[in-house]
Amino acid sequence: MARERRSYVCQACGAVQPRWTGRCDSCGAWNSITEEIVRSRGGSSRRPADPLPLVSLDGEVAPPARMVTGVEEFDRVLGGGIVHGSAILIGGDPGIGKSTLMLQVAAGLARAGRRGIYVSGEESIAQIQLRARRLELEGAPLELASATVVEDVLAALERGDPPALLVIDSIQTMASAGIEAAPGTVSQIRTAADLLIRFAKRHGTALFLIGHVTKDGQIAGPRVLEHMVDTVLYFEGERGHRYRLLRAIKNRFGPANELGVFEMREAGLRPVANPSELFVGDRRKRVPGSCVFAGMEGSRPVLVEIQALVAPSILATPRRAVVGWDGNRLAMVLAVLETRCGLVTAGRDIYLNVAGGLRVQEPAADLAVAAALISSLENRPLPPDSVVFGEIGLAGEVRAVGWAEARLREARKLGFRRAIVPPLETCPEGMERQEVHRLNELVAFLAVRGDARPGARAAAE
Ligand code: TYD
Ligand code: MG
Repeated sequence: MARERRSYVCQACGAVQPRWTGRCDSCGAWNSITEEIVRSRGGSSRRPADPLPLVSLDGEVAPPARMVTGVEEFDRVLGGGIVHGSAILIGGDPGIGKSTLMLQVAAGLARAGRRGIYVSGEESIAQIQLRARRLELEGAPLELASATVVEDVLAALERGDPPALLVIDSIQTMASAGIEAAPGTVSQIRTAADLLIRFAKRHGTALFLIGHVTKDGQIAGPRVLEHMVDTVLYFEGERGHRYRLLRAIKNRFGPANELGVFEMREAGLRPVANPSELFVGDRRKRVPGSCVFAGMEGSRPVLVEIQALVAPSILATPRRAVVGWDGNRLAMVLAVLETRCGLVTAGRDIYLNVAGGLRVQEPAADLAVAAALISSLENRPLPPDSVVFGEIGLAGEVRAVGWAEARLREARKLGFRRAIVPPLETCPEGMERQEVHRLNELVAFLAVRGDARPGARAAAE
């Protein structure tokens, strides 16, 4: 006999409350509790317990088997290909290109002879076929279905060999017939994902769940999925920019924080093998306020152009506009410039922009931001072919950051010759370093520098 259980689930955080309330006790969201009815099959679920075998830590472990998709940026983010039987959540804003990416990956694998199934609950078969034609993938032996009931999908999967790859686009549109809640609610998403993940683990199928992100940046039906899957990827990018970034937020089979870069073209997504070239722009035009930051994205060095514009303000409270960096961090750098170096920015508007639509999160960008600000304020370009990195402390000291060698090697590879950096242990050949121990050394260096001046080492205090 089927039993009915009512639960009250917060749609914002997934917490289950004992009764309906106007405000979730866990996350404080208002009006987010929905009643969900779960019907479980009757019969006792109790069975005699089997004692678990307990084993030691040192066993023979083979590395997980992977499928290489051939889309290198995608493979790298996953740690070298898709692990068989793994469940991967790929989140992102609507319209960012999740369906396009997964169709390209799935069709690529199908062409390579793997069985792939693409189930869409959002688009009709005809729409997917149209997209495939646009991507010139219509010849790939990928199998398509349009469905929104998980049990139907599972029934179809039981026929024939289990697929190597299954894409569900999107998990929010999937619902289980065993649950009465509306599609997209937390219980539905959780149950649908659970059924699909079980299938994937049992048959060694790699499962991709596409999920839309809500405005506040969480995957809707949020967090509940993040801990159920092996890997969480985010596909992101600025509207109006062609570049799309694929990031691993969590990865049980590889490094997290790895970054893949794509460019959205007329005919689909194209992997960008050398993102530094993309974010650095044209270096021959040297403009005051522009600075190249040698950054890291995961384990990968990426050069990014940081632009600052300091302009007289007519406002009582001057503007501080930041794109691609942290506004609080900018306030801190400005305060240190003012207090420790005597550079006054009061009465001026400040605009800071990370070119190309990248979002820089490292504190190592502090020194590059300071250099861009000083350069704009003094109306002098930075020395040609130079890169900058380093963290700034509140006392005005410049601190060493990790991965210095990798940053410098990437810069050297792209033709940069000079690095404005905290004290370093080593420096690659062909790279001239300008070490700064304190921020005022940077101010002095940028202000007095003649263009032909060789990069003399700044004197330590
Ligand atoms: P889509 O994959 O549908 O996004 P999502 O699944 O994340 O909602 O991508 C939609 C956008 O991508 C759409 O605005 C058009 C653009 N696009 C291209 O520019 N080129 C292409 O080849 C394709 C297929 C889409
Ligand atoms: Mg889509």
